[in-house]
Amino acid sequence: MLKRSMVIAVLICIGGVAQAAGIDAIVKDCEGCHGANGASQWSDMPTIAGISAGVHADYLFTYRDKARPCTKSKYRQGDTKRPETDMCAVASKLSDADIEALAAHFAAKPFVRAKQTFDPAKAAAGQKIHARDCEKCHSGNGKKAADDASILAGQWMPYLKSAMAEFNSGKRPQPKKMKEKMDKLKADEIEALVHFYASVP
Ligand code: HEC
Ligand code: HEC
Repeated sequence: MLKRSMVIAVLICIGGVAQAAGIDAIVKDCEGCHGANGASQWSDMPTIAGISAGVHADYLFTYRDKARPCTKSKYRQGDTKRPETDMCAVASKLSDADIEALAAHFAAKPFVRAKQTFDPAKAAAGQKIHARDCEKCHSGNGKKAADDASILAGQWMPYLKSAMAEFNSGKRPQPKKMKEKMDKLKADEIEALVHFYASVP
């Protein structure tokens, strides 16, 4: 006769496998837009690999709450004939457990820095602004995922530009202390920062 604890262990096992399979299918869907392992090859599409799990989960919760703008997008790989969708619609189908599992899954993948052409003079100007206003939270020149903020170094320039435009228009929420800094920046300073993040080795 099976012991009760063994039955429970077997049930937990089956449950674990079922959940992992569910996440696999969702991960495939994410990769259809964000690229294999969440490393994007498309300049308007953010790389989501390597972002710390806490920040990634927060992003997904924010989309699920429709508290951040969602841009409609085509699928980029796999079956590219799937209908366009956006992050608000994607996140609306995720449970809390899915969000935690997806965030942990992509946090474990390496952030692949996009190779981009940048203007060295703008990058040098951007470095100074970063050191003064942004390094406190986006440390290691925007490379550190351990921080309570995203990875900026090596993220796609067009994506970073549109993210900053969303912050400045007030459509995307940002931490109060970041807003204080952001609100003071002129257009050419934002441009310089974007070139700096592309230049970080
Ligand atoms: C149809 C394409 C598409 C699919 C499918 C998709 N995404 Fe996105 N995702 C985007 C686009 C476009 C953006 C950036 C623009 C925006 O916020 O709407 C984005 C942004 C994000 C961000 C914010 C990144 C940042 O640095 O702020 C995260 C996190 C994210 N997606 C995770 C996921 C996960 C996890 C899945 C699968 C459950 C997924 N995405 C599926 C298109 C997609
Ligand atoms: C007080 C800490 C703090 C400061 C200072 C700060 N940030 Fe942030 N930043 C954050 C946090 C936290 C997030 C994640 C916000 C969210 O939930 O969307 C973030 C997100 C971002 C994003 C979005 C990244 C993405 O993947 O979508 C950009 C771009 C950004 N910051 C740029 C800057 C720049 C440029 C500066 C300096 C002018 C700056 N930040 C200063 C904390 C800070």
